[in-house]
Amino acid sequence: MDRGPILRINDLKVSFQSGGNYAPAVDGVSFELREGEILGIVGESGSGKSVTSLASMGLIPSPPGKIDNGKIIFAGKDITDISEREWRKIRGNQLSMIFQEPMTSLNPLFTIGNQLDEAIRLHTNLTKKESKSRCIELLGLVGIPRAEGILKEYPHQLSGGMRQRVMIAMAMACQPKVLIADEPTTALDVTIQAQILTLMKELNNKTKTSIILITHDLGVVAEICERVIVMYAGQIVEQGEVRKILKDPEHPYTKGLLKSIPEIRGKKDRLYSIPGTVPEPGTVKKGCRFAARCPDAFARCQMEEPELYKTQKDGHEVRCFQHTLKEGSGDHAGVTS
Ligand SMILES: Nc1ncnc2c1ncn2[C@@H]1O[C@H](COP(=O)(O)OP(=O)(O)OP(=O)(O)O)[C@@H](O)[C@H]1O
Ligand code: SF4
Ligand SMILES: [Mg+2]
Repeated sequence: MDRGPILRINDLKVSFQSGGNYAPAVDGVSFELREGEILGIVGESGSGKSVTSLASMGLIPSPPGKIDNGKIIFAGKDITDISEREWRKIRGNQLSMIFQEPMTSLNPLFTIGNQLDEAIRLHTNLTKKESKSRCIELLGLVGIPRAEGILKEYPHQLSGGMRQRVMIAMAMACQPKVLIADEPTTALDVTIQAQILTLMKELNNKTKTSIILITHDLGVVAEICERVIVMYAGQIVEQGEVRKILKDPEHPYTKGLLKSIPEIRGKKDRLYSIPGTVPEPGTVKKGCRFAARCPDAFARCQMEEPELYKTQKDGHEVRCFQHTLKEGSGDHAGVTS
C-alpha cells in the first residue's frame, strides 16, 4: 500500500481575538496524515485539537479567528489559499468531518433520508432513485439495520449511537479520501463508544479512507490508531507510533495522560488526573508551556521554551529538555519546529 502523505499541515498558526489582542490557539503545528492510516490527536480540553482540524477543513470562523501562518497540502496540492467556492467542492467530498454531538450537525426538521440524500447529491449527479439506493447502501455500511425505515425517521427518533452512525454515513457519502472525526464518541456511553470505534476501524479497512481521530482519551487512541500526536497548549509535545508511545512515553504530559487511562492502570480506585488545567492561549510568556504542571520541571524549563526534538526512534518526536539531557544536545539538527 502507498503510505505517502494524503494531508500535510505545515507550521500552522491560528489565533483568536480575546480582548483587543489575538492569542495563539494553535502555534506552529506540523504533521502529516499518511494514506490509509488512522492518526490520533490527543490532549486535554483547550489544547487546540479542534482548531487544528477546523483549519485543515478551511473552517476557522473569522472573526474571531485568523490563520497567521501555515500550509495545507492535500493529495499533493497546496490548498492553503483556495477560495471558499473551491473549499466547498473539497469539503464533504474529498475531506469530510464528523463532530462530537451529532444533534448539532443533523437538522431536526428533516428526515434522515432527506439529509443523506442532500449530502450525496450535493457532490454527485445521481438521480433521486440512485441516491436512495446509495443511502441504503451507506446505512448498511455503518451497520444500521432496516435502513428503509430509518430513512423516514427524524434525528430525535434515533438513539445517540444511531445518530452518530448516520453522521458517519453522511461523512462517508462521497467516499472521502480523509475523514476527520472530532471526539466522535465522547457523548456516547462506553458500549456504544466501542461499537463506533470498531465501525471506524472497519470503514478504514474497507474503504481505505484515512482518518484523523481527535480525542482527549489515550485509551481511545490505543484502540484503533497507528500513530498519535499529543497536543498541549496549541503545540505538539510528542508524536510517534502508538505502540511505542503507550509502552515508553517520553513527555511528562503524555505520561500523565497515560496514567489516567483506567485499563492501563489496572486499578479501580479514583482515576488519576494531571493537577491543574491547560493554560489559556498566550498566557505562558516564558519557558515550557507545561512547566507549571510538570513533575520533572527544572530551572531551564522556567526560562526557555523546548523545541520538538526528533529522537532516535522511527518518526518519534518530543518537546522536552529531558531529551537533550539523555541524548546530549548534539542532535539539534533534528529539531522540527
Ligand atoms: N471560536 C473561538 N473563539 C475564541 N477562541 C477560541 C474559539 N475556538 C477556540 N478558541 C481558543 O482556542 C483554544 C483551543 O480550542 P480547541 O477548541 O481547539 O480545543 P480542543 O483541544 O478541541 O478542546 P476540547 O477537548 O474541549 O474540544 C481554546 O482554549 C480557546 O481559547
Ligand atoms: S521541558 Fe521541563 S517543564 Fe517542560 S515537559 Fe520537559 S521537564 Fe517538564
Ligand atoms: Mg475540541
